[in-house]
Amino acid sequence: MSDYDLSIRGGTVVTASDTVRADVGIRGGRIVAVADRIDGAAREIDASGLLVMPGGIDSHVHLAQPTFGGPKMSDDFETGTRAAIAGGTTTVLPFAMQPRGAGLRAVVNDYHKEADGKAFCDYGFHLIITNPSPSVLGQELPALVEDGYTSFKVFMTYDDMVLNDRELLEVFECARGCRALVMVHAEGYDAIKFMTERLEQAGKTAPYYHGVSRPEIVEREAAHRAISHAELTDVPIMIVHVSGREAMEQIRWAQNRGMKVYGETCPQYIALTADDMKGLNMDESGGKYVCSPPPRDQASQAAIWQGLQAGVFQTFSSDHCPFMDGVDGKRSPKARTSFKWVPNGIPGVETRMAVLWGLGVAQGRIGMNEFVALTSTNHAKMYGLYPKKGSIAPGFDADIVLWDQNRKETIRQELMHGACDYTPYEGLAVTGWPVMTILKGKPVCEEGKILGAPGDGAFLKRGISPYASK
Ligand code: URP
Ligand code: ZN
Ligand code: ZN
Ligand code: ZN
Repeated sequence: MSDYDLSIRGGTVVTASDTVRADVGIRGGRIVAVADRIDGAAREIDASGLLVMPGGIDSHVHLAQPTFGGPKMSDDFETGTRAAIAGGTTTVLPFAMQPRGAGLRAVVNDYHKEADGKAFCDYGFHLIITNPSPSVLGQELPALVEDGYTSFKVFMTYDDMVLNDRELLEVFECARGCRALVMVHAEGYDAIKFMTERLEQAGKTAPYYHGVSRPEIVEREAAHRAISHAELTDVPIMIVHVSGREAMEQIRWAQNRGMKVYGETCPQYIALTADDMKGLNMDESGGKYVCSPPPRDQASQAAIWQGLQAGVFQTFSSDHCPFMDGVDGKRSPKARTSFKWVPNGIPGVETRMAVLWGLGVAQGRIGMNEFVALTSTNHAKMYGLYPKKGSIAPGFDADIVLWDQNRKETIRQELMHGACDYTPYEGLAVTGWPVMTILKGKPVCEEGKILGAPGDGAFLKRGISPYASK
């Protein structure tokens, strides 16, 4: 009998710290050897000329999440994770969202039913807390953290989810006690409502004005407020989907003060701008770029790159939140009446890695080890999946992407594997592309062909984040 079920031979192994010519030996779904030469595996994959990197971990995706009477999300666990593996991602962390009034445990159980047997890649759940009642904060949340749901998100905007300052403080205090990592959506609710009303009164209702209604100022203000609350309650926080300089500078300021404030950014903030979309966004088709926070301008993109280069941001996530570009999604009859009814969010789980490689590594803005940190390793460390996920070394799950750094591709919808009917990155030319995705030792996608099946992916009970409260 062979020592290895599978070996990956002749490639260059890239981790967050090293780039080495090595073979990788896999047994029982895990990496058991990284060596000069591994002979005699039951199956060998020739990776010469390719990079061998940890499978992507996308710690911010939305799948089959309720939308409070709005259009349905176009991806469920099956189609969303199929898109993930096609893009080189082997773990996703979507959100079990608490509708106001619902018990958290029931929400989690229902979300498991959405996922069971459907996923093409591994997954864990964050929680979304919309109703921080005494029983939620006193019992349910701490118990769920013990059960492996070790992070949750809170919102400072959106009618159905916003928490006021008092609630934020109570939730932060709870997170400190149960050592959960808090993710914060930082945009100021009242300011956005005010801006929205003024724009509507002036007849400015096209999708383009979505961005005008929530400028960087409202994101900066909310980021600062969240940081202040975190300081008061002495709890680490992760500010997610940072769109530009203003919020980035708040995070950097807090980090320079020695605070445990972390940052996440996303493809839309380096690949899209409000200006690029202006022509389109003046008619209803612009709705397909509506997400929050919205894409900004070129100066903001430059600031995001500075944040990525300087380590202000630990994670690069997709914030995949797909809606169809049609009457049952971005162009619903209601959405045509005002930007405020256009469902917020864009697809991106499949294109996340190619966008960061293409605009980042291929253009000399970041190195390949930083790429691995930003797309995989740091997500595993931040969210309690390390050292099971996120690197290539003995003991880690054999979640691997074989990457062709010379491959030129143009991102287009016909290449995509999810259920959404468009990609916001249509026409973006990139160099660098995933050619094979391996999940726990099993090739699940090769050259865009899906080899895996629903149910290949398993639920991940996560550990306490080493970045959460001590
Ligand atoms: O527009 C976005 N990002 N929708 C997804 C929900 C969220 O706030 O992350
Ligand atoms: Zn289950
Ligand atoms: Zn958000
Ligand atoms: Zn999101």
